[in-house]
Amino acid sequence: MIKKCKTAILISGSGTNLQAFINAIEENNLNLYIAIVLSNDNNAYGLERAKSAGIKTVCVESSKFKNRESFDRAVIKELEDYKPELLILAGFMRILSPIFVRKYSGKILNIHPSLLPKYPGLDTHQRAIEAKEKWHGSTVHFVTADLDRGPRILQGRITINPNETPYELKKRVQKIEHYIYPLAAKWVTSGKAVFKNGECWIDGKISKDPLQIIF
Ligand code: GRF
Repeated sequence: MIKKCKTAILISGSGTNLQAFINAIEENNLNLYIAIVLSNDNNAYGLERAKSAGIKTVCVESSKFKNRESFDRAVIKELEDYKPELLILAGFMRILSPIFVRKYSGKILNIHPSLLPKYPGLDTHQRAIEAKEKWHGSTVHFVTADLDRGPRILQGRITINPNETPYELKKRVQKIEHYIYPLAAKWVTSGKAVFKNGECWIDGKISKDPLQIIF
C-alpha cells in the first residue's frame, strides 16, 4: 500500500478549497490525508466543513496574539502534535513569518486568485477587471518568506467576460481553484513537483514558468 502524505490544511474562512480536498479524498483521488484543519478564526465556516467530514480541527485565534511571531509559534506548537509532511494554505489570511516558513521549508502550498506574478495581495479580481486584462485565473505555488512570490507550480487561466463583475469573476476563479489545487497537491505528494534550491522542479527539470491549464 502507498503511504499517504500527512497533511495540515490552514484556513480563515469559508473553506471551499478545503471542501475540494475533502471531496477529492472521498473520491480516492489524492495521495494525502488531512490530519488537522487549523483556523485562525473561530467563526470560519471551514471548521464546520472539516467537522462534518470527521476531520480534527483546532483554532488558534490570531486576534489574541500581540505579534505575528508569537502567533506563528503557537501555530507551530499545535501543528507539531501532528508532524505534518505537507501544509496546504486554503484561504489562510495570515502573512507567515520567516520562522514559520523556515520550519516547513518546501512543504507549504498556497493558492492565490490571480495569474502571479500579476496581482499579489488583495482585491485581485477587481484589479484585473479595472486593468482590462484579457486573462485572469489562479496560481498554486510553494510558499517562501516572500509574500505571493514563491515558485509557481500550476495556473488555471480563464478569459474575463465583457461586463463581468468582480463577484462573478471570483466565483468562476474559485471553480477552477477547486480543480487545480488538489491536482497540484497530487503532483507534490507524488514527487512530480518538488521545491529544490528555491525553485519549482517538475519531472526533474527546473520549471521557471508554471504549468498552465486553460479553462
Ligand atoms: C481562494 O480564492 C484562494 O485563492 C484565496 O483565498 C480564497 C479562499 O476561499 N487564497 P475558500 O475559503 O477556500 O472558499
